[in-house]
Amino acid sequence: MSIHVLGRNTFGDPADAGKLMSIEEAHQLLEEWVPNERLRLHMKQVAAVMKAWAIEREGADATTALKWELAGLLHDADWEKHPNDHCRIIIEELERRHIDPEVIHCIASHGPRYFGVEPNNTMDKMIYMFDELSGFVHAAALIRPTRYEGMDVKSIMKKLKTPSFAAQVNRDDITDALSRIDTPLEEIIQFVIDHQKEVV
Ligand SMILES: [Fe+2]
Repeated sequence: MSIHVLGRNTFGDPADAGKLMSIEEAHQLLEEWVPNERLRLHMKQVAAVMKAWAIEREGADATTALKWELAGLLHDADWEKHPNDHCRIIIEELERRHIDPEVIHCIASHGPRYFGVEPNNTMDKMIYMFDELSGFVHAAALIRPTRYEGMDVKSIMKKLKTPSFAAQVNRDDITDALSRIDTPLEEIIQFVIDHQKEVV
């Protein structure tokens, strides 16, 4: 991912707090904006893991879980069609649609080194943590005949230490994201394996 610093730290209108779109609406946006099926799958996987973490680990209610899911589902929505304006375009679209500022901030902070926005709350920190890791675990699944079936954390940890495997996944981002949360990497990887395997 190249650097596209957003040049601002506040997003959306505080008056729009609590305003969300339905998952169906978000899927429709993805269909229109993201022809690449693999990229759509990546966003669906991050969304599934985000939603599951919100509910299982943060005790989120339905509305909060929807915020986490929407952020996951839309975080790369503009990447395919606007690679040089990645993040800015989807942020502006969500501002136009009067979406909750927390969802927009979460999307803006999913790559602090690239967009110049620091993750603030747990939702922000977890999207940053899950983004690269989700893609990495999926890359590992794709080279296994049984895909996710029987996949173990140890093999993923080993692949993370092998720079040639999924070389496009930036290990420094994973290390940086991990340093911002209190959960061990092994536990995060297991969570990703458990929750994204059903996503198709
Ligand atoms: Fe992503």
